[in-house]
Amino acid sequence: MELIYLILSPIIISLFFLFHGLNLYRRRRLPPGPLGLPILGNLLDLGAKPHESLAKLSQKHGPLMTIRLGGITAVVASTPEAAREILQRNDVACSGRPVPDAVTTLKHPDTAVLWIPPNETWRAIRKALNLYLINQHKLDSLMQVRENVVEGMLEFLRESAGQEKRAVDIGTMAFGVALNQFANTFFSKNMSGYESREIKGFQTAVEIAMEVQGKFNLADIFPVLKTLDPQKVRVRAKATFDWLDDVIQGFVNERLKHREAKLPRFNDMLDSLLDFSEEDDKVDFNLTHIRTLLGDVTVAGTDTIASSTSWVMAELLLHPDMFMRVRKEVGEIVGEDGKVEEAKLLDLPYLDAVIKETMRLHAGSPLLAPHITETQVKIGNYLLPKNTHIFVNAWSMAHDPKYWDNPMVFMPERFLGSKVDYKGQYFEFIPFGSGRRRCPGMPLAHRMLSLIVASFVYHFDWELPYAAEKMDMSDKYGLTLLKATPLVATPIPAASQ
Ligand code: HEM
Repeated sequence: MELIYLILSPIIISLFFLFHGLNLYRRRRLPPGPLGLPILGNLLDLGAKPHESLAKLSQKHGPLMTIRLGGITAVVASTPEAAREILQRNDVACSGRPVPDAVTTLKHPDTAVLWIPPNETWRAIRKALNLYLINQHKLDSLMQVRENVVEGMLEFLRESAGQEKRAVDIGTMAFGVALNQFANTFFSKNMSGYESREIKGFQTAVEIAMEVQGKFNLADIFPVLKTLDPQKVRVRAKATFDWLDDVIQGFVNERLKHREAKLPRFNDMLDSLLDFSEEDDKVDFNLTHIRTLLGDVTVAGTDTIASSTSWVMAELLLHPDMFMRVRKEVGEIVGEDGKVEEAKLLDLPYLDAVIKETMRLHAGSPLLAPHITETQVKIGNYLLPKNTHIFVNAWSMAHDPKYWDNPMVFMPERFLGSKVDYKGQYFEFIPFGSGRRRCPGMPLAHRMLSLIVASFVYHFDWELPYAAEKMDMSDKYGLTLLKATPLVATPIPAASQ
């Protein structure tokens, strides 16, 4: 026995040094980063607000920093220059996505636009989205739909304000608008009543869908835990994704029967997508792609709008002078019928500045969606191996005093006369990301936010149940940065109406 030890020991020691050396070599080619604990790596460094913890760590370790989360090696980009390297100069190599365990519970994860690699299917889905939802012409032609939906919500608020002074959750109202405009655009349908069980059901489902996709899940970090599902992420994800898929499948089946019976067309997005799937000179785009796409867009485009509206309104209620300035600006373009029209809002500089400043201070998605390298990629002197996870810390850039005066203060004026926009060229301000994985919904989000906020501000005064300065402005980390306490206020029809 001792002889075996004697023979094996030098071999084991040499192997140890060989692996250790290789590891050091590999680390040396990755950017520097904080030392982590054995097994856990830097997991405990993340805390409850990973974007803030990572921003702090990057001050010590640099704009490109390597962290380890269990078995995952990730690189964090924390300055505009580092983000440009990832999302612009090395866009192709860095545009994959690490697929979370939660997403594998989707019935068809290989068609989920947010998570699939930039392959043919992804290109076909992004093309369909652009053709039938978000190109300039389509957005203009759907303007009336959005205005009607907002009018419906204002009616609801006027009615409830007339009967009794009743507070509403501003995020829930905006969620209902976003959901109803998708339901009208996709299926020519309206969801029943604001604050109804139908809309609340969707809101709960979408919130869970966003949460499970954005969570640092132990089962992703330590794959051996997948079957145990310690945080019950997998179970919740499956139940929610199945529910959403069934609802959408129901709408699609109804339409298929309608088309089979040769009844008049609706000419909405679902009709267009079904036509597109029947064309045969293109890559595979079938009923599965349609179902997943409509579900994905519903998830990606409702909670984000609800959350951003809550933040804009919270800031305006905290700053009554700014609220009145927006109202005055909107009042100048409102016609004799007293209606706020989307087309006229798009040129209002102060409203635009308020929305931008809100998205800077309360970044929609603080770490964007995670990226992953599709191939080995060289960035400066560093070499990122294939399958390196990448976090772009949009929050840290939007709060960096090097780029913003008084970065923690809400000052819409900083955007007046400034050419900085959120289309992905100014890397200190990328709430929608940049490059090929940039949010395709940005132009729609911009129009919806402008219309909802302008309508809220122009038509109503809002009474808070507490003194404005007592408002809780803290946030809750997730794929979107939510207000920790929902914004609840009582709408009072404005005196001038
Ligand atoms: C205020 C509203 C919104 C914000 C802040 C937002 C933000 C984002 C961000 C940060 C990403 C990831 C970018 C990256 O990883 O580089 C993204 C992706 C995405 N967003 Fe949005 N979004 C919003 C609204 C919408 C809307 C209205 C739609 C509906 C069309 C939408 C559809 C999508 C889709 C489909 C993706 C995945 C793109 C891909 O991976 O190829 N988003 N969004």
